[in-house]
Amino acid sequence: MKDYIRMKNNKPIYSQNYCDLSRPELVELMEKTLSKRRFKHVLRVEKTALKLAEAYNADKEKVSIAALAHDYAKEKPDEEMRDLIISENLDLEMLQFGSNIWHGPVGAVLMKNEYHLDDEEIQDAIKYHTIGSPRMDIVAQIIYIADFIEPNRSFNGVEDARQLAKTDLESTIAYISRHTLKNLIKRKAKIYPKAIETYNVWGVKNKEEQDDPFVY
Ligand SMILES: [Fe+2]
Ligand SMILES: [Fe+2]
Repeated sequence: MKDYIRMKNNKPIYSQNYCDLSRPELVELMEKTLSKRRFKHVLRVEKTALKLAEAYNADKEKVSIAALAHDYAKEKPDEEMRDLIISENLDLEMLQFGSNIWHGPVGAVLMKNEYHLDDEEIQDAIKYHTIGSPRMDIVAQIIYIADFIEPNRSFNGVEDARQLAKTDLESTIAYISRHTLKNLIKRKAKIYPKAIETYNVWGVKNKEEQDDPFVY
């Protein structure tokens, strides 16, 4: 338990070892950057993520920063995001896909450039919150899950994910990675290969099936 993290009204008081901003400043930045609707979503993701951090013994300060910053780039113009993907040497393959998958990696870069958010765990959590990644530590796992299950989400399957999250993070990620792929296929949408990589590591039933190309 990260007991040394000081809390106020169930929210961590930042040590400011991870970025230039205090929690109130980070909240204010998101409030002025995002639409009201998305700002409220971000606050709900933080609340959900902090509950998971409490239950699973994760660093609440890192979880809070990642949750508040995860959609920082979500409403940036496509042009600005496209330019950053190129100038920051991000995965150019992303450009073949919709801007929805850009905002995680772009947001992580913006937070690093503008507010010195360098911590790798927080960076990864912001980067991977939409499509996941074969390797996600506990902060990234929590943000990926909290974004999916925050209380305003109402799509089919969200309740199952909420129940799973009460007992086990890994099976929740497995569930979400399957749910995401199934939905994309149902909508006949193009699938960014990294979402398939996430599924192959987290979503398959067991290792043997993962290694055996003939089990379908
Ligand atoms: Fe997002
Ligand atoms: Fe989000």
